[in-house]
Amino acid sequence: MKFNPINWPSAAAALGLVLSLTACDSKPKDGASGGAAGDVIKVGEFASLTGKEATFGLMSHHGTELAIAEINAAGGVLGKQIKLLCEDDQSKAGEPATVVKKLISRDGVVAILGEVASSRSMEAAHICQQNKIPQISPSSTNVKLTEMGDYIFRVCFTDEFQGKLLANFAKRTLKAAKVAILTDTKSDYSVGLTRDFKGPFIADGGKVSAEQVYNGSDKDFKGQLTAIKAAGPDAILITGYYTDVALIVKQAKQLGITVPIFGGDGWESSKLIEIGGADVEGTYFSTHFSPEADSPVVQKFADKFKAKYGELPDAMAALGYDSAMVLAAAIKKAGTTDGPKLRDAIAATKDHVGVAGTITLDAKRNATKPAVILTIKDGKFKYLETVSP
Ligand code: PHE
Repeated sequence: MKFNPINWPSAAAALGLVLSLTACDSKPKDGASGGAAGDVIKVGEFASLTGKEATFGLMSHHGTELAIAEINAAGGVLGKQIKLLCEDDQSKAGEPATVVKKLISRDGVVAILGEVASSRSMEAAHICQQNKIPQISPSSTNVKLTEMGDYIFRVCFTDEFQGKLLANFAKRTLKAAKVAILTDTKSDYSVGLTRDFKGPFIADGGKVSAEQVYNGSDKDFKGQLTAIKAAGPDAILITGYYTDVALIVKQAKQLGITVPIFGGDGWESSKLIEIGGADVEGTYFSTHFSPEADSPVVQKFADKFKAKYGELPDAMAALGYDSAMVLAAAIKKAGTTDGPKLRDAIAATKDHVGVAGTITLDAKRNATKPAVILTIKDGKFKYLETVSP
């Protein structure tokens, strides 16, 4: 079935997905022809609401939507309500450019929030930069993203940090001297994280005993896993996204592989456990947030999120929320939605208390924050440790 961005809600409803039809249009108040010209301020969001990484987009969107609802309930910004216009990119390359162009030129949004996956954020970044429309990615970690221009920001850490912490985790916690790596060559995130792991791991005396690759839509990983098994690593790193990771881990177990398997934030999805079942028990991954943290900020957010969406927030939800809050604070501070002035205000973000950590944007428009390591125990994500930069 081909999804068309115009008719996806009806297609999704037909599939029985529990999606509010207003989810992509959070405030009905309209009347503006563009930007902040009328009685609303239009903010664009693009997300993978359907397709292979649908849980990324849905969770991120829910976090974003919750933040906008709170901002509006508190009176909005500059005396106006924010209208969130959200477009589904179907987890597909090519779609981000199409929908972001539409948001900017047809709808006249003043800023863009999104995406989760680095490749899709990067596809949109060209367009935002060209149009001088600030883009804030909630959770794309590939180093290159914010290097694409001075209008491109993120409110999460980068893979330079994540790769290094995974290298430390492999060496110190897993006591692995030899690690095998599986990389999704279609994903900028996966390719980048593999590189950002290898550098510090090798510099620290570690050895990469096998390197195998796959393509984001592959289903059979037995060839790669057989080669990995033959190399006899102490642990296996998979730098891809949850759908593939779950299948890879299942097939590794079928081949009798017993060494620890670990990865990065791309693993985070309830689907990892749903698809991986008992096979993903005892695996590990790094991410940005745990709803188990006992900080009052996290607990308040987790309660509100659960009350609205019936499940606990994950990293994407927390970072989606933070991205919208950072934008709203910047609009307030700038006193205008004019692109260059808004850009400057976002760039000056300092000590913003987010639900996924405090955000100060550095000269490269990145945030420096701690990460958490989670494991899977009894069919649930379990908090293991916090790693500070
Ligand atoms: N960091 C991943 C990327 O850049 C996306 C991601 C973020 C996935 C947070 C899960 C949680 O592609």
